[in-house]
Amino acid sequence: MKTWSVQLAEHQTQIYFGQGIGQQLGEYLPELAAKKVLVLTDTNLAPIYLQQLTQQLAALSVTVVPVIISTGESSKELATVLEVYQTLIAEKFSRQDYLLAFGGGVIGDLGGLVASTYMRGMKFIQIPTSIVAQSDSSLGGKTAIDYQHYKNLIGTFYPASKILVDPDFLKTLPAREISCGLAEVIKSLLVSPEQPLDYQLLQQSQFVTGELPSQLSKLVQQALLVKTHFVQEDFYDFKERRFLNFGHTIGHSVEALANGRLHHGEAVSIGMVTMMRALVQHQLLAPDVLNMLTQRLQQLSLPIELPDDLTHEAITQQLALDKKAVAGQIQLVLLKAPGQTYLQTMAISDFAVWLGW
Ligand SMILES: NC(=O)c1ccc[n+]([C@@H]2O[C@H](COP(=O)([O-])OP(=O)(O)OC[C@H]3O[C@@H](n4cnc5c(N)ncnc54)[C@H](O)[C@@H]3O)[C@@H](O)[C@H]2O)c1
Repeated sequence: MKTWSVQLAEHQTQIYFGQGIGQQLGEYLPELAAKKVLVLTDTNLAPIYLQQLTQQLAALSVTVVPVIISTGESSKELATVLEVYQTLIAEKFSRQDYLLAFGGGVIGDLGGLVASTYMRGMKFIQIPTSIVAQSDSSLGGKTAIDYQHYKNLIGTFYPASKILVDPDFLKTLPAREISCGLAEVIKSLLVSPEQPLDYQLLQQSQFVTGELPSQLSKLVQQALLVKTHFVQEDFYDFKERRFLNFGHTIGHSVEALANGRLHHGEAVSIGMVTMMRALVQHQLLAPDVLNMLTQRLQQLSLPIELPDDLTHEAITQQLALDKKAVAGQIQLVLLKAPGQTYLQTMAISDFAVWLGW
């Protein structure tokens, strides 16, 4: 088991990472004793885990109020936030009570937004259960919901006080979610400042979806340490934290245009490879880095080519709708070598030419 803590503005987050933690909640969450806890989870996770979670909390004399929302990104909306507020009000929650987010990134982002705004901030703990949440989204305090066609438009910065990461939860994560989560882990190890160690880890690890939690654990933990580095450097996301968005500019456009056919990690896989091919073409990146990444992504059956029915023109137009695009300009995350990432702002029209489109 590994523990570390992160100070983000006035918030301190304590992280516990290890197999079996999910079976010993009383040991890791003594502060919940005799408190009221709203457990936010989704319709996939509740049938598998809610009963054992509730039993463990009951042993601490916790009053558990479960709220089970529909699985998926479509729950990250204002109506769900209101639904959770209603329960908090009906059950007379105070600022001293807890919201426990048990689930993937959707549950963490939504739960964090509710916790940060209910009575101007109630206590907030995360138990992440997907690779995305365990390696990335649970840490760093970004909370959000989507609004109109903008993803993560409404949100706050509100770090959890504790994050309990148990890779054993990954045993029940569907294979496609494992691949998508590992696409983001690959990206984190690529941009990690811990080089050449993290690049070697990428080269030497097995990336197959049938891996046991014990084998995934090292990769997920290392990605979470990379996230720790970037959020400590740049909590409010003005510079270094943006390096974690490598591959996301094209990825977001492709994801939006694919209308649900591609999951986020799959779109990021396409986005990373498209950017790296252009960097290699402009002799800004060594081809062996591209080849290694491509192999890793393909081992996970992740797509690396733009879908046939998406034209370059449509993707370029979609880029202009990105909430980060300002006056036809877009900020790109570029890579010189593993761990050597930089930001560059370009006109969207020039970007398309740069990509060779
Ligand atoms: N706050 C941040 O810094 C940050 C960073 C990255 C991503 N995100 C957000 O995270 C979300 C994506 O996260 P995600 O991929 O975890 O999505 P998700 O929460 O939708 O989970 C993916 C699917 O896996 C299921 N699942 C999760 N854990 C499981 C388990 N142990 N067993 C069985 N099924 C399980 C969920 O029910 C869901 O169907 C997006 O909304 C994204 O915007 C936020």
